[in-house]
Amino acid sequence: MAGFLLTFFITFGFLIPYLNSQQLYSGNAAIDCNNTDETGPSPAFLYSCNSERLSCHTFLLFRSQIPYVSVAAISNLTSSDPLELASINNVSSSALFPPDKEVIVPVNCSCSGWYYQANASYVTPSIYDTYFIIANDTYQGLSTCNSLMRENVYGELDLGVRGLRLQVPLRCACPTRNQTLNGTNFLLTYLITWGDTVLDVSKRFNVSARSVAYANGFSEEDQTIYPFTTILIPLPTAPLSSQTIIHDPPAIPPPPPIIRNRKSKKGLIVGIATGLSVMVLLFFVLFVGFLQHNRNKVLVVAWKDREGKKKKEVLTKDVLVGIARVEQVLKVYKFKELEAATENFSQENRLSDSVYRGLLHGKVFAIKKMSTDVSKEVKILNKINHANLIGLYGACEHHGVFYLLYEFMENGSLKDWLHKNSSPELQSWSRRIQIALDVANGLHYLHNFTDPAYVHKDINSSNVLLSRYLKAKIANFSLARSAEQGESSNSSTMCALRTRCHMAPEYLEAGMVTPMMDVYAFGVVLLELITGREAVCEQDGEEVLLSETVVSIMDGGNSEPEFGNLIDPRLQVKHPLGYIIDQSELKLRMMQLSVACLAREPESRLSVTEVVSTLMRIQLDADKWEYVSVSGS
Ligand SMILES: *[C@@H]1O[C@H](CO)[C@@H](O)[C@H](O)[C@H]1NC(C)=O
Ligand SMILES: *[C@@H]1O[C@H](CO)[C@@H](O)[C@H](O)[C@H]1NC(C)=O
Ligand SMILES: *[C@@H]1O[C@H](CO)[C@@H](O)[C@H](O)[C@H]1NC(C)=O
Ligand SMILES: *[C@@H]1O[C@H](CO)[C@@H](O)[C@H](O)[C@H]1NC(C)=O
Ligand SMILES: *[C@@H]1O[C@H](CO)[C@@H](O)[C@H](O)[C@H]1NC(C)=O
Ligand SMILES: *[C@@H]1O[C@H](CO)[C@@H](O)[C@H](O)[C@H]1NC(C)=O
Ligand SMILES: *[C@@H]1O[C@H](CO)[C@@H](O)[C@H](O)[C@H]1NC(C)=O
Ligand SMILES: *[C@@H]1O[C@H](CO)[C@@H](O)[C@H](O)[C@H]1NC(C)=O
Ligand SMILES: *[C@@H]1O[C@H](CO)[C@@H](O)[C@H](O)[C@H]1NC(C)=O
Repeated sequence: MAGFLLTFFITFGFLIPYLNSQQLYSGNAAIDCNNTDETGPSPAFLYSCNSERLSCHTFLLFRSQIPYVSVAAISNLTSSDPLELASINNVSSSALFPPDKEVIVPVNCSCSGWYYQANASYVTPSIYDTYFIIANDTYQGLSTCNSLMRENVYGELDLGVRGLRLQVPLRCACPTRNQTLNGTNFLLTYLITWGDTVLDVSKRFNVSARSVAYANGFSEEDQTIYPFTTILIPLPTAPLSSQTIIHDPPAIPPPPPIIRNRKSKKGLIVGIATGLSVMVLLFFVLFVGFLQHNRNKVLVVAWKDREGKKKKEVLTKDVLVGIARVEQVLKVYKFKELEAATENFSQENRLSDSVYRGLLHGKVFAIKKMSTDVSKEVKILNKINHANLIGLYGACEHHGVFYLLYEFMENGSLKDWLHKNSSPELQSWSRRIQIALDVANGLHYLHNFTDPAYVHKDINSSNVLLSRYLKAKIANFSLARSAEQGESSNSSTMCALRTRCHMAPEYLEAGMVTPMMDVYAFGVVLLELITGREAVCEQDGEEVLLSETVVSIMDGGNSEPEFGNLIDPRLQVKHPLGYIIDQSELKLRMMQLSVACLAREPESRLSVTEVVSTLMRIQLDADKWEYVSVSGS
């Protein structure tokens, strides 16, 4: 007996710290791509290998989505056995699933290092993928970008190449000893979607919410769950096809990017409805249905309060981003501290009209003085957090004047860098492509990763700042706004006059605010990067838009001699042997990209996602080509 106990402790002793907690819920960290696990296993990668069972047969839930709607396609995507998949879902092997149907996927789960994983393999298609898209969109959160990056040798940029075979570790886990003792034989990896609550999911699989909380490390108070992440459902037997459901179609009806004032629309419809026409009443009913439908976009969060009473709260996606994104708290400084930091706002520390350099606690900041209401900018910047968007660190109010503390950008604005500088970096195409890509990445985040999507509205080369290492960041969010509110015409005319060179035609003409106006403005910045010239609005009293000139030249033939003299002459790269390297293809592709952003009709412009992927391809080819031309001749 003593001998048995001893072996037990020797064998499992090292696992005891892990055995005490079951798996931990990843929260939104699973959709961030830059987590580390240097200090121990992180739920943002995969579930940790915490049980004495080093492998098990288990199940995942996948929601059928085009093109993965057949038994063959889903089993191929997840490297699972098609016959078993068909039988556990009670369908034939040639069956097609309706869209958004939950499909049970049988997998073999095993420990590899710190984590449990089920291995799948994925071949990159011809369209551009990132690790994030593969983890979140293709695998719906069943894998994570952090673990994908770990297991694959390819850089993010290489993924544009078709036909690469990637290793995809899927999130799975085996039950711990305590769970087994309590009758749990399987841990089903369940995909959270909009509207799910822990309670509803537990009911559906006929298990106690308590055991689900225990399996995922939820506390009594906090059971917040996020879409596109997974939780584990402890099951006594394999899941049944009768427990799976068809989810409502994704509740985000592709909104026309045009901003309308929703309130007045509702008022109008209510007004007509009181007119008692049967037809109009019917219309009203439809409209309520539409509102109801829209409500699926919110997440219901359930938890228990201190007295153990159940509470439910509906979170809008906006709040969700607020809570989930950044835990950073804006630091509030005393005016005295700022005075000391800037030596009483001295001329020497003045960077521009209203911006000062300040040294606080050994760190340099840019301190911007503003007399207007800064709450909007603070609200946005406090919520978003991206390497290509300027960081806000603190704020101060003094006699109605606001001071915001930003990260200090050593190389100033892109505008100054392009026009008042002679650094050798200026001659490098790859540097300029990288700057464009930085700006596009910042916009991509703003348009696609915040909810509601934000439109910056004032992208221009003065609002793009460069760090010491020439990393570009978007600054000045004073005009930024969410793409969902209405537009007040006053503010639009005001800013239109200020920076109209970068303003999209539909905004100047109709005050229309959509993410596409940022794409247009990006096209102008790209043009400045290519030509090294400022986008002029007026010349000799006449309006001349550089962008229009370029668009008309490109429309009329696409031949290099036509636009060749528009390209910044500083970008002529000499080969070590003395001749000028021919870069006409690179030039043409960059010009074409900027023209595609400058299309007059917003619908014809590229989306910022397309801009990012195009720029990445150009960058990849430019690097390859540089390598060939240097090593080849
Ligand atoms: C197992 O359950 C017992 C009692 O319920 C508890 O004391 C112990 O900490 C649990 N162990 C783990 C690994 O959860
Ligand atoms: C899972 O493991 C079983 C037995 O070890 C094996 O027969 C089966 O082929 C495996 N399934 C997959 C999809 O690898
Ligand atoms: C499988 O589907 C058939 C009808 O398609 C149904 O009669 C049967 O009860 C189902 N079996 C299970 C286990 O759900
Ligand atoms: C899954 O992949 C990992 C990493 O490639 C490997 O270490 C592990 O052995 C694989 N597991 C199985 C069961 O093939
Ligand atoms: C699985 O998908 C890959 C592409 O991702 C394809 O090349 C392969 O033929 C497919 N295999 C089967 C069995 O369908
Ligand atoms: C993750 O993928 C879903 C679709 O599967 C998409 O609706 C969602 O926006 C994606 N999340 C992010 C942050 O892109
Ligand atoms: C749910 O589980 C309980 C045992 O925990 C069992 O008695 C009951 O029949 C199950 N209900 C369904 C619908 O499977
Ligand atoms: C395991 O079962 C015991 C007794 O039925 C119960 O008190 C305990 O809460 C259960 N633990 C979990 C994690 O479900
Ligand atoms: C991940 O990136 C964000 C900015 O995009 C940063 O704020 C966060 O600290 C990073 N997390 C880690 C673990 O590096």
